[in-house]
Amino acid sequence: MEKFLWGTATSSHQVEGGNFYNDWWEWEKLGKIKTKDSSHPACDHYNRYREDFELIKFLNNNSYRFSIEWSRIEKREGEFDEKEIEHYVDMLRELRKLNIEPILTLHHFTIPMWFKEKGGFLNEESPKIFKAFVERVVPYFKDYVKYWITINEPVILAILGYMFGWWPPGEKSFKKSMKVIRNLILSHMEAYKVIKTNRKESSVSIAHNMMLFYPYRNFFLDKKVVSYLSNLYNNLFLDALTTGIIKKPFGKNEFYSDLRDSIDFIGVNYYTRIFVRFHPLKIFQERKKRGVVLTDFGYEYYPEGLYEILLNLKRYRKRILITENGIADKEDKLRGDFIKKSIDAIKRAKEKGVDVFGYMYWSLMDNFEWLEGYSMKFGLFEVNFETLERKPRDSAYIYRDIAKNYNF
Ligand code: GCO
Repeated sequence: MEKFLWGTATSSHQVEGGNFYNDWWEWEKLGKIKTKDSSHPACDHYNRYREDFELIKFLNNNSYRFSIEWSRIEKREGEFDEKEIEHYVDMLRELRKLNIEPILTLHHFTIPMWFKEKGGFLNEESPKIFKAFVERVVPYFKDYVKYWITINEPVILAILGYMFGWWPPGEKSFKKSMKVIRNLILSHMEAYKVIKTNRKESSVSIAHNMMLFYPYRNFFLDKKVVSYLSNLYNNLFLDALTTGIIKKPFGKNEFYSDLRDSIDFIGVNYYTRIFVRFHPLKIFQERKKRGVVLTDFGYEYYPEGLYEILLNLKRYRKRILITENGIADKEDKLRGDFIKKSIDAIKRAKEKGVDVFGYMYWSLMDNFEWLEGYSMKFGLFEVNFETLERKPRDSAYIYRDIAKNYNF
């Protein structure tokens, strides 16, 4: 019986420090971070990963999800830095020595400046550009990696970067965001083919942010909005990776044979539920229900929603890995209960036949939370960003015991 994967997740730009050649570093220099924090040195995970792997052992974890930094490896187009590739090979080798199953993310939001200047994933050539990067690096990692995440939260990247304009490159265009999603789907397809060619028994997915939408009122139009948003946000991308058809508004219902079944499991990033109501002009409006408990981030505290998310995925008949799940909780008042309720949601979904094979808590340690800088504390380990000391929160002990003793 395959062991359940108990782990945590991080991403390169958020924990490593020293990432000066990507679009987020530029965004920070443009003053876009609310707290004016810099992602350097972040947690200095780039230099401290061996000590941080001891934290993973402390948690009785047998798995760790992290991302490689494209802009480190390919600072200039076509120029690959073997030293940087070797850095990630060493991380993978160390994890294997510690019997920790790596889950490797190839793209977690950041892109190299040279790619950004070519339009990033808005560029029609982006699937080819991403494929060239993946072709170059996968051969170095394939002997250590079974579980691959090609792209982290493609829909979030497209919405925040190209529709709302909050994230780089700051575009505000529905049309452009849909084009980016289509190029991310095709980029995933190219990466999937490269990985499977290099190691056919690899298991490949995206890490898909899934949101639980609820109608604000028991009202027909609110319910219509919920099903529209849930389909657009949660299902259309996965439909493309399973049927091979890029449906409107992401594409023009075109079919790609290499896209069909280009996902071996579904990586799920679940955080919260939102209530929405119909709006005659904007289609929908998010409304907070009175009396709900909120996390530091202002999200509704709703760990049990993971159960509904998982049942919604039964239709794909794929194994599921929780690739991110967590809360911003500086005082650590809610995190222990959040984890327990999330694991209980997984247990109930498994009893309904949903094959969940792992859980990655977001995050191992406090880190650079994009526009919120270091103000949002997601870590099981608290980080003192003056001294970079890591200290386990009470919830780390709770997760440690669950990872050691919990049986589904
Ligand atoms: C995301 C990212 C992480 C975030 C985490 C907390 O889901 O946005 O994968 O980088 O830090 O979700 O917001």
